[in-house]
Amino acid sequence: MGLNARIESALGAVIARAQGPQAPQRLAQALHYAVTPGGAHIRPTILLSVAQACGDSRPALSDAAAVALEMIHCASLVHDDLPCFDNADMRRGKPTVHMAYSEPLAVLTGDSLIVLAFDTIAEAAGLSPDRALGLIRVLARRTGMPDGICAGQGWESEKSVNLSAYHRAKTGALFIAATQMGAIAAGQEPEPWEELGARIGEAFQVADDLRDALYDSETLGKPAGQDEIHARPNAVAELGVQGAIRRLKDIIGGAIASIPSCQGEAMLAEMVRRYAERMTPVAPVRTGA
Ligand code: IPE
Ligand code: IPE
Ligand code: MG
Ligand code: MG
Repeated sequence: MGLNARIESALGAVIARAQGPQAPQRLAQALHYAVTPGGAHIRPTILLSVAQACGDSRPALSDAAAVALEMIHCASLVHDDLPCFDNADMRRGKPTVHMAYSEPLAVLTGDSLIVLAFDTIAEAAGLSPDRALGLIRVLARRTGMPDGICAGQGWESEKSVNLSAYHRAKTGALFIAATQMGAIAAGQEPEPWEELGARIGEAFQVADDLRDALYDSETLGKPAGQDEIHARPNAVAELGVQGAIRRLKDIIGGAIASIPSCQGEAMLAEMVRRYAERMTPVAPVRTGA
């Protein structure tokens, strides 16, 4: 089974379980709506690729970790789109959860996905409770305060923003979780994998800034040009389009050089290269960009 099929099947099973016959039906539907059809699945794909590069000795635990990480990501998007954050009406080419289901159900969808993420790992602990505990700790750290997505979103309520701390927490955190959780699920220490996750996260942020500046809303499936509209500091404003593309290439080079030695090192380097190609915008699409 390819990695994406593996992610979709594991995610489908977890959501189906959470929908149970006793559950309130609209919230149950909203849970499914928030994760399906998914986005690019970049974080769980990185997680499973690292697990494979390290031998993937507990594939069921790797699947649970991948699904948990994707659910945290989806929860963060559902909450991020709410009127009290970015007030976005489109995500992944369809109405956001609060537009389709209501604000209370969007809050509850995000909350339910976060809780379900940790429960999914606990349930898959099986013969490796030590690895499951490690997974839960890394995921908790990269979700909450002071180093996780909550911290990242929290920077938006400060008077002055530390840009690198903001990006590291808002975007980088779940990429660090991806590489470290892949290693832990396969029985490896997480520390050597932090740098790779951080660098991929940094590259993702620059690519996201480029796409936001160059693509239209239809291509993105979500509102475009947001960085300029909200005067958010971003790589394109700082370096220009060509400068940001050069920066992206530099970061990717650093990411590949930081891959810890393991049996699947060459495969991982290839995966990072492939992602970099896919993430780099090919041509300006938005008029005036
Ligand atoms: C979007 O992440 C949110 C950011 C951190 C910028 P993705 O671009 O990975 O979203 P999906 O999951 O593919 O829709
Ligand atoms: C959303 O960040 C990602 C989170 C960490 C919640 P942004 O607000 O910058 O990304 P988009 O443009 O909505 O995907
Ligand atoms: Mg936001
Ligand atoms: Mg947003």
